[in-house]
Formats: sequence, C-alpha cells, structure tokens
Amino acid sequence: MTFVTAQGLIDHARQFAQQAYNFDKEKNYSEAIPYYLDAAEALMKAIRFERNPQVAQSLKKKAEMYLARAKELKGLLEKRKEKRSTAGSDEDDDKLSSAISDIIVTEKPSIKLEDIAGLEIAKQTLREAIVLPLMRPDLFTGSRRPWKGILLFGPPGCGKTLIAKATAAEVEATFFNVSASSIISKWLGESEKLVKTLFQLAKERQPSIIFIDEVDAMAGARGGEHDAMRRVKTELLTSMDGLSSSETDRIVTVGATNLPDSIDGAFRRRFERRIYIPLPDEAARDAIFKYNTRGVEISDDVDFSDLAEITEEYSGSDIAMVCREAIMTPIRELDMAGAINDTSIQARPVTQNDFLNAIEAINPSVSDDEVQKYDEWNAEFGSA
Ligand SMILES: Nc1ncnc2c1ncn2[C@@H]1O[C@H](COP(=O)(O)OP(=O)(O)OP(=O)(O)O)[C@@H](O)[C@H]1O
Ligand SMILES: [Mg+2]
Repeated sequence: MTFVTAQGLIDHARQFAQQAYNFDKEKNYSEAIPYYLDAAEALMKAIRFERNPQVAQSLKKKAEMYLARAKELKGLLEKRKEKRSTAGSDEDDDKLSSAISDIIVTEKPSIKLEDIAGLEIAKQTLREAIVLPLMRPDLFTGSRRPWKGILLFGPPGCGKTLIAKATAAEVEATFFNVSASSIISKWLGESEKLVKTLFQLAKERQPSIIFIDEVDAMAGARGGEHDAMRRVKTELLTSMDGLSSSETDRIVTVGATNLPDSIDGAFRRRFERRIYIPLPDEAARDAIFKYNTRGVEISDDVDFSDLAEITEEYSGSDIAMVCREAIMTPIRELDMAGAINDTSIQARPVTQNDFLNAIEAINPSVSDDEVQKYDEWNAEFGSA
C-alpha cells in the first residue's frame, strides 16, 4: 500500500525542477515551462500534507519561485513569437477553450446522496440550498433569496467532494467541476481569464453549479503573493459578487476545502453558508464499511458494528482503504500461477480477522488536534 507523503511529493518536485533547470539553461523555454509548473504543483500538493508550518512556508516560497520563473519564460517566449510575427492569439484562445472543456463535467456524476453515509444535516442543507432553488426558483423570490455561495469544510477524506457531486446529480443543472489548485498550477498566467470565462459559461448554461474543489488554493489570504495570483483572486471575488447581486441568475458556487483557516475573510463572507463535513460517527462508519465491501463475499463472522466501534478516529477514506486492504487479503492468498489457469480456484470469503489486520495496518490520517481545529472553526464561522 502506498501513501502520499509530503516527502514523496517534494522528491517529485525536485526531479521536475531539475529537468526544468536543464531546459532553462539550454534556453529551451517551451520545454522548461511545464516542468516548472509540475514542480510547483507537486510542492503545492506537498504543502497540504506538511504538518510543520515553517517547512510549509518555505515550500510555498519555492513553488512561487517556480511559478514566477515559468511566467517569466512565457513572457520571453511571447517576445520570440512577436519577433517572428506569427499569429499567436488564435492558439491561445484554443488553449483556453480546451482548458474550459476539461473542467466542465457535462455527464452527471453517478454517485447518489443515499450512497453517502451519515452527514444527514449536510445533505438536508445542500438540498435546501441548491436543489430547491435551482429547480423551483419561483419559491425563492423577493427577500427569500437562495444561497449563492456555499463552503464545505472539514478534514480530508470525509466526503466533501463526494457530497458535492451527489448533490449535482440530483439537479438538472450544468455541473462545472473545477480544481482550484490545478487551475493555479497549470494556468496561472491565464487563470484569471479562465475564471471569468467559467462564470460566463455558467451564466449561459444555467441553472449551473460551479464546484471549486480545494478552493483554498484560490481563495487564500491575500497579500504578499504574485501578481497573477492576486488577479485571480480579484476575478473570483468579482465573479461571485456578480452572482449574488443578480435576482434571476440560477447559479450557485460550491467551494470545498480542508484548510478553512486559510480562506481569506473576503471569500469567507461570500460563502454565506458554511457546512461542516466532520469525521463519520459510528453509524456512518458502519455504513461506509458496508458500502465499500458491496458485491464481495463476506464471511458470517464479520460484524460491521464492531468494526465501526473500534475505528473511532478514522475518516471515510481511511475506512475505504481498510476495506480495500481487507478484501484483497483472500486474493493474495491464492496461488497465482494456479488461479490464472484454473477457474475452479476461488477466493475464500473475507473474515473479521482480515478487517482487524487491515485496521491494525492502517492508521487514522486525521489527528485529534486537527479535529479540534475544525471544531473550533466550525463554532466560530460554521452555519450550524
Ligand atoms: N460519508 C461517506 N460515505 C461513504 N464514503 C465515504 C464517506 N466519506 C468518505 N468516503 C470515502 O472516502 C473517499 C474520499 O472522500 P472525498 O473525496 O469526498 O473526501 P474529501 O472530504 O473531498 O477529502 P479531501 O479534503 O481530501 O478532498 C470517497 O471516495 C469514499 O470512498
Ligand atoms: Mg475532496
């Protein structure tokens, strides 16, 4: 089983950066740029796993440095292009529209709200805040205004992305699924234009849901950053304001973050409804165990309520991982060579012991301290 670690990502970033330097030295800018961007992206991801704030800060500086160099090289390339006086702007527009089509998910997500364990209050709130206003705008007129901005926050792996997708699946609406960190890392120079186009498109195709995952990457505290970054933030603020001032637009922005602390106050205010997605409680854990083992033969001795009881601090994705590990155990015991040729060799049912071993091997990924921080933020800023 491989885990994503900050160190692993930092190592990746170093390799990308090395490649970037090599191309940069050769003045092969068009090759160097994507490597700088990849290096920056890897570092931005690493920051999300880095617990030491000082290390995180220095990683952030480095990522910004790579982004700045990528931007500089882009400028140099443009100049080269101008010199050759080729028509470059068509190509840019193409790139932008292909980026947009990448982030528009027209096909409905297949997950249903019922498939998500627990989180009853969050589901109810989302129905009330999204499904009803988009489907029955006539109920929300005059002073009864629907929410235009909703923030889902909470520890990693507890269903924020899942619940946003499931809500979208319940509504006849265009669903724009955007990852803020990938927009920033891949499109920094153009991300301002991208955000603007995104909101314009959402307006043309309403009712629309704009889901911005990892929104902290785009809505973090302002000041001290790179110019391009500042412009994206301003654009996002302006676009969100445009939505909330319109009486007739049926568009809602849903942001998700596991770093609510780092959301700038200006953005926090625009996400009027802030919904806490906490660690699953015992009943929810029980359901997550069942959901993640469906269609697999389970021995009679397996007691999911027992397993739910002993996995107190586990997140939904931790439990999903435990299940994956446990249900693979019977497969690992098969004689590989034999099983490939002989279809009469079957895997044994998964036992309680397989689950216990998996729980032993996989630790909860969210610490008590972190949970406490989310609780505190919820008490201060959450919409109960
Ligand atoms: N309440 C839940 N019910 C069922 N499965 C869950 C639940 N919460 C988490 N999971 C499992 O964990 C996985 C990760 O969930 P999801 O991606 O929604 O987490 P997230 O809160 O968006 O995390 P992150 O902050 O890291 O983006 C899901 O694919 C699912 O397998
Ligand atoms: Mg997520």
